[in-house]
Amino acid sequence: MKNLNINFSGIDWLPDEEMEQFTDEAFFACDTLLKGNGPGSEYTGWVDLPEYYDREEFERIRAAASKIRRESQVLIVCGIGGSYLGAAAALDFLKGTMHNLKIRGGADPDEMEIYFVGNNLSPSYIGDIIDITGDRDFSLNVISKSGTTMETAAAFRIFRKILEDRYGEAAAERIYVTTDRSRGALKALAEKEGYETFVIPDNIGGRYSVLTAAGLLPIAAAGCDIDDLMAGAASMREELLSEPGELNEAIGYAGLRQQLYDWDKYIELFVSYDPDLKLFGEWLKQLFGESEGKENLGIFPASVSYTTDLHSLGQMVQEGERFFFETVINVESEPEHILIPEFENDFDGLKYLEGRPVGMLNQTAVDGVAMAHMDGDVPQVYIGIPDKSEFTLGELFYFFEFTCGVSAYVEGVNPFDQPGVEAYKKSIRELLDKYRK
Ligand code: PA5
Repeated sequence: MKNLNINFSGIDWLPDEEMEQFTDEAFFACDTLLKGNGPGSEYTGWVDLPEYYDREEFERIRAAASKIRRESQVLIVCGIGGSYLGAAAALDFLKGTMHNLKIRGGADPDEMEIYFVGNNLSPSYIGDIIDITGDRDFSLNVISKSGTTMETAAAFRIFRKILEDRYGEAAAERIYVTTDRSRGALKALAEKEGYETFVIPDNIGGRYSVLTAAGLLPIAAAGCDIDDLMAGAASMREELLSEPGELNEAIGYAGLRQQLYDWDKYIELFVSYDPDLKLFGEWLKQLFGESEGKENLGIFPASVSYTTDLHSLGQMVQEGERFFFETVINVESEPEHILIPEFENDFDGLKYLEGRPVGMLNQTAVDGVAMAHMDGDVPQVYIGIPDKSEFTLGELFYFFEFTCGVSAYVEGVNPFDQPGVEAYKKSIRELLDKYRK
């Protein structure tokens, strides 16, 4: 693979014939995905999206992002699940987990703070974001394909009210709605109030929507290059669609995952060694969890941030129940500018650390942990990435969406529905009907 360094050698203990069986099944599943003759095929619009996206809307996204940056110091993004995780993961990946704090500290007055609401029902979380925003100018991007998601609807009401109290009729100029093209309550409201709207296309479900306006508007408002993001996804698409069976690493990875599942490795740990990738792990959890977890089947997707979690889950991974495999996403070019300073005495027996870049210690941890975990019967897929750029992120989004679609078809489920998510919503509605206000 041109830009990503994918390595399956951490799984080479599997017998060849079984590897071949699952690779063949994955190849067949890929064909099903691309021919659009599997369950849920009406939601495979994301496959061609990086090449055939709506250029006119893309320009409107860019223009809206510039307007938001001109008019506001803060952007509040309201959404949950696929209507939030991709954008939130992208901002941490591209700008770092500290981006809002750095801006508040005045590091760059041209940057804008971005906060995500509507992804929980915690009053203290919402209260903190109201406090942080204070009386500064802000804009609001509400994202919901259905327009009827409870968490999003609650937070939208709160921040819409603040905007309307503050700006009166001009509040409408600061509200941006990303929703279904023609249906749904949000679309109707936007038309009535004159909010600018963006589309999550009919043929793309929430967790595959990061490269639609659902992800692109907040990412562009943060000042990131959405052209490069789309170019990365397009390049990955071209690679995956033009590579034959055994050279196509998404097919290989999808087959391996299902092979490992068959061997009772039913928890996949998405591992990173950089806190900026933590939310990317959350995006992966939703992508694979909602796509594969149905009909009493599915690899359980979890994510860990090493080396931090080696001091909490490391024991379990090394010596607990042997049901894990790991998929490591590693940034291979770490900055070398932070060195461990040197002192005269070896006061703690760790003097061998001195003079070395922290990034080099981190890369050594990647290698050392791989050796220990593979010895401990934890197979490992390794995906090295050259940097934390928009292009690389676009490649990663597409690579994992493609792998997930293929893998779920190998498993034999519809990757594009989520019938189980309705159950909790129904119970909450019933309880709210019962409880008085
Ligand atoms: O992947 C999905 O479809 C879901 O996770 C949705 O993104 C999530 O439930 C939010 O739905 P909506 O965009 O309709 O508010």
